[in-house]
Amino acid sequence: MSVGIFDSGLGGLTVWDAVTRRLPDLPVSYFGDNANAPYGVRTADDIHGLTRRAVEQMWDEGANLVVLACNTASAAALRRMQEDGVPQGKRVLGVFVPLIEAMTQRNWGDNSPPREVDVKQVALFATPATVASRAFQRELAFRAIGVDVEAQACGGVVDAIEDGDMILAEALVRSHVDALKRKMPKPDAAILGCTHYPLVQDVFQRALGEDVTVFSQADIVAESLADYLSRRPEMVGDGGARMVTTGDPEQVSARATQFLRRPMSFEAA
Ligand code: DGL
Repeated sequence: MSVGIFDSGLGGLTVWDAVTRRLPDLPVSYFGDNANAPYGVRTADDIHGLTRRAVEQMWDEGANLVVLACNTASAAALRRMQEDGVPQGKRVLGVFVPLIEAMTQRNWGDNSPPREVDVKQVALFATPATVASRAFQRELAFRAIGVDVEAQACGGVVDAIEDGDMILAEALVRSHVDALKRKMPKPDAAILGCTHYPLVQDVFQRALGEDVTVFSQADIVAESLADYLSRRPEMVGDGGARMVTTGDPEQVSARATQFLRRPMSFEAA
């Protein structure tokens, strides 16, 4: 295997799906820590420990590059993992920066000073841990000025999606959008800051209204990964793709097949 994609559960499959469509010849593996999802209500230490264990397993199994297709892990664990040092030839990347670069109309790695951008009022929907970390606001402040961000911690949505209870997930999304709109009545853009949320993107869009631009990560991350690998081809190795879960492989395969509308087959991690 060469490139690994990690998430606490099913959400990162939205990124996996976009990456495999954008780069059809690239072997891409997936690690879903479904047994420990949701991460969004855990402490930063806990999220760091679980994320590190999964990423190390993917490195040990041959991945050179692991993408944390999980905002919660990107917010709570990525910087600490990078500061602790990663093994020679290995890398771990998150999903925040490509999204913020897209929203602030920047090319990859453009580190010029923050400037005014088109969006002014941004609604951020994310897990409680991601909202508490304020990582999104920090990354945005490096790149843009004059942007108001109102964050809404969307408790319960990841659990409902993991349980396959889409009626509950949709009701929760509507109530979280209502709560956000009470704080910011007219956002001009919304960020789906959790990779599970694209699975209910149409519910967000309907509740927000058609005039709100909704940014979600799957295609943005796939494009940014394609660009990265064209500059760092050594991060692509040989090997096949494995789909693994710490949960029940049969149940995870069934949900993944239902969500992505393509046959998915998981084995035990
Ligand atoms: N998909 C993860 C994210 O992007 C979900 C986190 C969770 O397990 O709560 O944040």
